Amino acid sequence: MSKLPWGNSKVLTDEEFFNREQEINNLKNLLSSTGENNAPDILLTGIRGVGKTVLLNRIKNIMDDDYLVIYMDFTISSVYQKNQMSVKGLLDYYFQEIISECRDKGLKSLDSQIKKFFKTNNFKLEKFLNINGIPIPLISTERDIEKYRDFVFKLAEDIYKENQDKIKGIIIIIDEFQVIKEIGDYLNSFLWNFRGYVTSQRNVAYVLSGSMSLQDNLISEIAGQNGAFGGRMLTININPFTKETANTYLKEKAPELNFTEEGFDRFYKCTSGIPSYINIFARQLDTSTTLNEEEVINAFDNNLSLILSHLINEWNRLTIKEKDIIITLIHEPLKRIEIARKLNVKSGSLSNKLNKLQNLGLIKFIDGKYEINEHLLKRWLKLEHEQKGIYPYRVI
Ligand SMILES: Nc1ncnc2c1ncn2[C@@H]1O[C@H](COP(=O)(O)OP(=O)(O)OP(=O)(O)O)[C@@H](O)[C@H]1O
Ligand SMILES: [Mg+2]
Repeated sequence: MSKLPWGNSKVLTDEEFFNREQEINNLKNLLSSTGENNAPDILLTGIRGVGKTVLLNRIKNIMDDDYLVIYMDFTISSVYQKNQMSVKGLLDYYFQEIISECRDKGLKSLDSQIKKFFKTNNFKLEKFLNINGIPIPLISTERDIEKYRDFVFKLAEDIYKENQDKIKGIIIIIDEFQVIKEIGDYLNSFLWNFRGYVTSQRNVAYVLSGSMSLQDNLISEIAGQNGAFGGRMLTININPFTKETANTYLKEKAPELNFTEEGFDRFYKCTSGIPSYINIFARQLDTSTTLNEEEVINAFDNNLSLILSHLINEWNRLTIKEKDIIITLIHEPLKRIEIARKLNVKSGSLSNKLNKLQNLGLIKFIDGKYEINEHLLKRWLKLEHEQKGIYPYRVI
């Protein structure tokens, strides 16, 4: 029986979680300095589906005994879900997550200080957003948001001070951090402020992560020499499984699969060693025969929309114009002016759309030209066109 996890699991069991020993040791060692008043700030990067989220959840499990570890996922915040991204909404989410984790762990969650803070500032409380009894203030003026921000970003440190007899420090993990890009002027309104608080807290470690392609500007805006955290932020990149790792993985977790040598080479090429693709694809393969190269290719093409479901969801959320841009890039990289000519629009009108597609990691800009970043998306689009004679603008 296959012991492979589903391709979209966010938390894996000990049995399902494979390898990553080096990354885990590295992160564990770095984070342990939090207990010596020297909390690190870490940026964990890696392409879609490589295993950042499952690794972070594992780290939470490992560090949970000695530390208060708070795992946040910015895409779960209600402001993101409702498509109303704002600094205030993210602060609410941040605040709630800290307090609920604190309560779950049986630590003092500063309830009376919090009440007093709201009262002194005359903050009214939101009646309907009172999640698990955690009060959420109604705030509208810029000045009050600043006070609230100050309070929320300092909260972890205050909680540590109150509980230092029970924990060695606090670790705040923020996954899907890239969604801050949906806040207007995110650098000034969020990132630089956040950094101001984060870097001065010696007992609170921060681990930021999310789907960011290596070309993403956000990475240099956070961790580059001139970025918000300057040289202080340690960057760790998670790589896909090597061919050897993928081979050992399947032998151990899916011994029912058999490949010829070329068959396995092709399996590895198709999945690029990305664990989520490996898991989804391997579950679809025929276990009653030894798979050769051709059979692997056929199975891959037949299951492509399943393997890429994550990416296809993203494709579905694009506007028709954004999809048009990607389609112009299917056969070759193009300059902006060339894309504009093909689409019969003004070159200037493409800036926002190209930025958005770059932010999503779907296209990249190299040597003056735009190209599709996800080669499997390109393969899927081509196949759909071949089979149906039309590009899949609407996928049901
Ligand atoms: N160490 C691992 N062992 C086994 N399977 C793994 C491992 N890492 C990742 N996977 C598989 O890959 C899937 C995707 O992992 P995960 O969600 O952590 O990726 P991600 O890097 O966070 O992707 P995204 O950028 O889209 O958020 C998991 O659901 C699991 O099936
Ligand atoms: Mg993730």
